[in-house]
Amino acid sequence: MLRSLSGRFLILTVLFVMHAEVLIFVPSVARFRQDYLLSRLERAQIASLALLANDMIDADVEEELLRNAEVYNVVLRRDEARQLILSSPVPDEVSATYDMRMDGPWALMRDALTRLVDPAPRVIRVLGNPVREAGLLIEVTMPTEGLRVAMLDYGRRVLALSLVISVITSAFLFLAVRALLVRPIKRVIGQMQNYAAAPEDTRRIIEPTAGITELREAEQALKTLETELTNSLRQKERLAQLGGAVAKISHDLRNILTSAQLFTDRLEQSEDPTVLRLAPKLVNSITRAVNLCESTLAFGRAEEPAPRLTMVPLAELVGDVIEGERLAVGDADISFSEDIPATMTVRADPEQMHRVLLNLVRNARQAISATGDPGEISVRGEETEDAWMIRVTDTGPGLPKKAQEHLFTAFQGGTRKGGAGLGLVISAELVRGHGGWLSLEQTGPEGTHFVIHLPRRPDAMRAPEPRAA
Ligand SMILES: Nc1ncnc2c1ncn2[C@@H]1O[C@H](COP(=O)(O)OP(=O)(O)OP(=O)(O)O)[C@@H](O)[C@H]1O
Ligand SMILES: [Mg+2]
Repeated sequence: MLRSLSGRFLILTVLFVMHAEVLIFVPSVARFRQDYLLSRLERAQIASLALLANDMIDADVEEELLRNAEVYNVVLRRDEARQLILSSPVPDEVSATYDMRMDGPWALMRDALTRLVDPAPRVIRVLGNPVREAGLLIEVTMPTEGLRVAMLDYGRRVLALSLVISVITSAFLFLAVRALLVRPIKRVIGQMQNYAAAPEDTRRIIEPTAGITELREAEQALKTLETELTNSLRQKERLAQLGGAVAKISHDLRNILTSAQLFTDRLEQSEDPTVLRLAPKLVNSITRAVNLCESTLAFGRAEEPAPRLTMVPLAELVGDVIEGERLAVGDADISFSEDIPATMTVRADPEQMHRVLLNLVRNARQAISATGDPGEISVRGEETEDAWMIRVTDTGPGLPKKAQEHLFTAFQGGTRKGGAGLGLVISAELVRGHGGWLSLEQTGPEGTHFVIHLPRRPDAMRAPEPRAA
């Protein structure tokens, strides 16, 4: 309650209204006392006028008249010569005299407060003008108890009324603040939260609707901010996608160019002098292109296009890959073997599956070359009832720790000099696009074993296993 805007308004209003009521309390009590005393003078005047009717009244009647007027004595001065007097015993000395003809507002307030704070019963004398110019002066002596009781009673009623008024006012103000301030502010907050959940969605940008000028200005500023943010987010996203696409193109282009580089090496052994003359130029150009690709490979990644699935003879695909890699072996002692049932065909995009196999076989070849030891790489094809499996194994050193920790994470797992750390990520993504998954079955000093799982039923989509993607 104390922390909310409307709650604070409620409490502050009660305090302010009570404060205002206290300020008007003193003058109104003073006014009440004045009226009270004047009415006593008037009653006393009426009582004394009974004397006019018959000059001598007996003591009983006189006492009754005074009791009705609630005074002890009355002196009504009619003119310089005559005066009427009613009197009864006064129990105490007169403690104060108040002249109602002279007292200004400050004196009235002071006397009223004095009466309120003084609980002792006293006798006072009050002077005033007789009503209807019935004489020059009227003077009464009276007790204060009745006056004080009436003043206290009046004061209590004023305070109770103030309380009721302040509670009602505060309640209205509370509701008004809720409707005019809190609700619009909450709407803006809700809108901000909604926007924050998906800042790239232009439909979530705030539409200024507030009727309150200040709030509307805030909404307007927020709209500008959100629009700018959304635009820059979209731009950033597009740039990220572009970067990813460039990285992938560069990666595969480099692989293609590396193969071309190997073929051009052969051109240098040609007999034809023109070919011999041009070959080094070609090699240089391709080398430059490879370098360009490698330096471009510092950028993000993007989605691959959906594979165009056909039935592909696996032996042919694997044969192509191995032939290319054999050429790249150079001086190293690496042997390749393939064990694919002659009739085995898989449903795949031949171009994409070629890239996957090339990545796996090349990784193995590069890993073995780096050790300088002899090694073997084999590709095996297997069929089960609902899957095709292509196993790529090698006798290399196994994946370094970093590569295992960041397996299938772009740019993170690469440990090879000149490698981008994209090959496995791209391969895994391509296999996933086929509805299958790529898994690392085993890796260690005795070698590495990757498996490509492809579903036989076109609609089957498997959940990848741990350590697979
Ligand atoms: N068969 C393997 N044997 C040993 N280490 C491997 C093998 N395959 C992959 N690795 C390790 O995993 C890392 C990641 O391989 P990945 O193909 O993703 O990237 P890369 O080969 O470094 O670069 P590129 O993007 O050019 O392929 C490699 O750097 C290498 O250290
Ligand atoms: Mg690689």
